[in-house]
Amino acid sequence: MQEFAEYESLTKRDLGAKNHDMHRNGRLKHLIFGSQLNTKLLEKLFRSADMIRRLSRDPEGNRRLRDLLAHRRAMLYFTQPSTRTFLSFMAACQILGITCNEVRDPKTSSEVKRESKLDSIRMFSSYFDVIIMRSQISDYAECCAYLMNDLERNQKRSVPIINAGAGSDEHPTQALLDAYTITRTFDFDENSLQHDSRLTELRAKYPDLTSGMDNKAYAFCGDIGRGRTVRSLASVLSQYSNVTMFFISPNQDALKLDDKLKQRLVRQGVQVVELDSLDATHNGQPLLSQIDCMYMTRIQREHNSESTEAELTAMDLSPFQLTTDRVEQMKDYAPILHPFPRDRVIDEIPTAVDSDPRAMYFRQARNGMWIRAALLVHLFDAADSLFMAYSDVIGK
Ligand code: NCD
Repeated sequence: MQEFAEYESLTKRDLGAKNHDMHRNGRLKHLIFGSQLNTKLLEKLFRSADMIRRLSRDPEGNRRLRDLLAHRRAMLYFTQPSTRTFLSFMAACQILGITCNEVRDPKTSSEVKRESKLDSIRMFSSYFDVIIMRSQISDYAECCAYLMNDLERNQKRSVPIINAGAGSDEHPTQALLDAYTITRTFDFDENSLQHDSRLTELRAKYPDLTSGMDNKAYAFCGDIGRGRTVRSLASVLSQYSNVTMFFISPNQDALKLDDKLKQRLVRQGVQVVELDSLDATHNGQPLLSQIDCMYMTRIQREHNSESTEAELTAMDLSPFQLTTDRVEQMKDYAPILHPFPRDRVIDEIPTAVDSDPRAMYFRQARNGMWIRAALLVHLFDAADSLFMAYSDVIGK
């Protein structure tokens, strides 16, 4: 984009070099890409999220949480529709005592007076301590992070940028809550086994099933090509060992796994399999009976060109619908995730599935609030204070 011309060469680098710019002293400076979420960082964030969740059940814990970042202010700059990401970030801020403000309609900001996008962001950074942003422009958040880095280099005020959804490219905080949900589903440590009889039964029935995200077959179904949540989550999961990913999408170029992402996953050691129906087989067996986790997605109609829209309208999308019959073929422990919203016309997950114990999507959305709070704690370097609050209130 012309407005970001000064950062064009930076955006063209490979992910490794870009990620380097988004960290400081082993901590996140900005969160822009899913691949920034390395396994060590994920562990830390998951532990903080667990502590926040536990503290929030206790009145004293709640007070301590609200004191943690009461001196901070957040700007929620969401110029694309959002329900869950916006509200869960807002709730996360409220849990931690952070004051929030929002701009959702660019027509109410000075962009209408021909202010540049980067000037707008720099202005936000004068009043707020973190900018959480969603835009249909894929590299807007990334360029804002470079702007902040330039300001920091020139000893000017600079604040963290959090990408809350960038075009059809990345959605790293969604990957964070998805990974947190998967980890909690496959959590077989002693303490958890003591508290959850379902996990104990699972452990007894499937002794080879391992904790965490290693050694699993993940299925992603729907709009793989343009689903930013899929791209970010696949990046995160590709770091774990012995991972298979099935990508199930209509046979339509825009919707299929793109080559660049595919190459990246394969380089990371992922076994990648592409299929065009939930009823497909793999190695002679039904796909559905082989997967450990199902990640459903919506067809991203907002990105359709006129011809794609016409093609999709004419297409039978029922092979991509997770009906109760199909759920029945899945392993009895395999969680069903969906970033939501689901499309009430295409109905990729009929509401009849909601009562199945494997349906995780509402829990998944709630997990977003805890893990986004953990992310804010990390960005503001408040993990030690969180741990102190936890030891005082829960560990006493
Ligand atoms: C997703 C998004 O915005 O990319 N929603 C979300 O953040 N939970 C998925 C979608 O819109 O399909």
